[in-house]
Amino acid sequence: MSNFIIVKKRIKNFKKKITVNGDKSISIRWVLFASLANGVSQAQNLLMSEDVLAAIKAINKLGIKTSFKKNLCKIYGKNIDGYKFKKNITINAQNSGTLGRLLLGLLINTPYPIKLIGDKSLSKRDFKRISDPLSKFGSKFKLRDKKNLPLTLYGSNNLKPIKYFENKGSAQCKSSVIFGAMRTNGTTYIKAKKSRNHSELLCKYLNLPIKIKTTKNYDLIEVKKVKKIKTLNYKIPSDISSSSFFIVLTALSKNSKILIKNVNINPSRTGIITILKKMGVKIILKNKKIYKGEKISDIQVCSSRSLKSINCPTKLNSSAIDEFLIIFLVAARAKGVSYFKDLEELNKKESPRLEWGNKILRKIGIKTITTKNSIKIFGNPNIKVNKKIIIQDKLKDHRVFMTSVIAALTFEGNSVWHIHNKDSIQTSFPNFLNIIQDLKK
Ligand code: S3P
Repeated sequence: MSNFIIVKKRIKNFKKKITVNGDKSISIRWVLFASLANGVSQAQNLLMSEDVLAAIKAINKLGIKTSFKKNLCKIYGKNIDGYKFKKNITINAQNSGTLGRLLLGLLINTPYPIKLIGDKSLSKRDFKRISDPLSKFGSKFKLRDKKNLPLTLYGSNNLKPIKYFENKGSAQCKSSVIFGAMRTNGTTYIKAKKSRNHSELLCKYLNLPIKIKTTKNYDLIEVKKVKKIKTLNYKIPSDISSSSFFIVLTALSKNSKILIKNVNINPSRTGIITILKKMGVKIILKNKKIYKGEKISDIQVCSSRSLKSINCPTKLNSSAIDEFLIIFLVAARAKGVSYFKDLEELNKKESPRLEWGNKILRKIGIKTITTKNSIKIFGNPNIKVNKKIIIQDKLKDHRVFMTSVIAALTFEGNSVWHIHNKDSIQTSFPNFLNIIQDLKK
């Protein structure tokens, strides 16, 4: 089967209620916590995507059983020291930075060396950012070119607590060290620039020995060794990062309205809502509730007639880090010049996303000025795209594919888009194209 799609027409107006797939960050964290619990944990609506299945395969390799029935996943945890595995195992994190980086934190006391590999994209990403702090606990790492996968982790049974300053706003780095600290006698102190806090909320919900003080720009976190994790039954909410494609599809379509049900709106993830509201998109949060420490709500969005440019405050960068590609499309249709800066982290994702954002906008015909870590987008509310556009990302970034599809469905003109790597949606959002088909009905 061909692995590209062709889009020729702008989507017609729609009024729909949709549900997007489960949250990827919470799904992976649930798998990891449940794998160390004392007994059987169950999740409903676990994201069944390649990243999460890679997490399931990883814990299977570590001797933990799992089972699936309809919408229910069970993990048969043994206890905090319940991983049992042979010498010389290799774990494949595939495309998932979250899985690779968080799991290494949990494995710093491994009695045998463990090799970690990943796909082409993950093998280009920086693992020194976590091998450095995890080595300070006393474990050792051998990395390809001192920075990349494949790597081998040599664990230690004599771990010492550390003091760690996380200054990139990376939840993966912060969580990796929290997991390392959970294995280590004594108190580990973390000062972390604000980033998504699902790991901390799960630790709190499970009554694990963690203390968190929040200041304006940083979180101060203390973690002690964990002796026992109780089982964790969880209904995974929908993913705001997946929702963001439909928020923007609706905002940029004519006479349309959407209600996205039961989405995780943890404030450390809702930068896209703050940014798009500032740009004039009509978004209403309905039916708000709290579930196991996480905020959940339905998100209603209407077509937006007049969009304003934005000088995006850098304090929103971390809470919108996975959504910038799609936000750039709104900037392209806004009146005025938008400016997004201090975004060096964006080029360190599954593909260099700042570069890809720029490429997509240029192909559409939008003027941009970029530096290594910033982009100015000269918006044009009346832009028409009248050409053939081919999008082919060698690193097969799922968000490059989905952003391109939304662009193809929302920009006016007689364009034909050939968008490669359709299968990449399996990484994070397997239902993406089905929902689009449903909106067309
Ligand atoms: C994630 C953290 C972010 C994000 C990624 C998921 C997580 O990465 O981009 O998609 O689940 O912790 P960084 O921590 O590298 O910013």
